[in-house]
Amino acid sequence: MAMEYTKEVMDHFMNPRNVGEIEDANAIGEVGNARCGDIMRMYLKIEDNIIKDIKFKTFGCGSAVATSSKATELIKGKSIKEAAKLKNEDVVKALGGLPDVKIHCSVLAEQAIKAALLNYCKNNNLNVEETLGESFSANCSSCEE
Ligand code: FES
Repeated sequence: MAMEYTKEVMDHFMNPRNVGEIEDANAIGEVGNARCGDIMRMYLKIEDNIIKDIKFKTFGCGSAVATSSKATELIKGKSIKEAAKLKNEDVVKALGGLPDVKIHCSVLAEQAIKAALLNYCKNNNLNVEETLGESFSANCSSCEE
């Protein structure tokens, strides 16, 4: 099977953006990938409902690194409602595509961001629907798991 990676994927894999931890993060999300067992942790610094800073750490593969890097770029500076709408397909599209067998890796970023946003609501006693939008679902957008 052909395993072609786009230039954008390679760029984000070789030079991932926003890697690390945020010491005073006020939202943290950690998820494991049901398909491969890899782990992803997202740190968010949210102020006035805006994602002021975001960093990630992963024990995932290159595709997980690239999609997480791109995902952090896509939501940094956005409102948490907008960030809550990010789908793994959006990230894959922004990277110019991923090989089919690697699509499951992009789910990690979406789920870790959602887990962090839920963590933010919980830490601040916020109503999830009001804070993240009525259509918010903690489940990943492209799988039934
Ligand atoms: Fe596990 Fe890619 S193989 S995240």
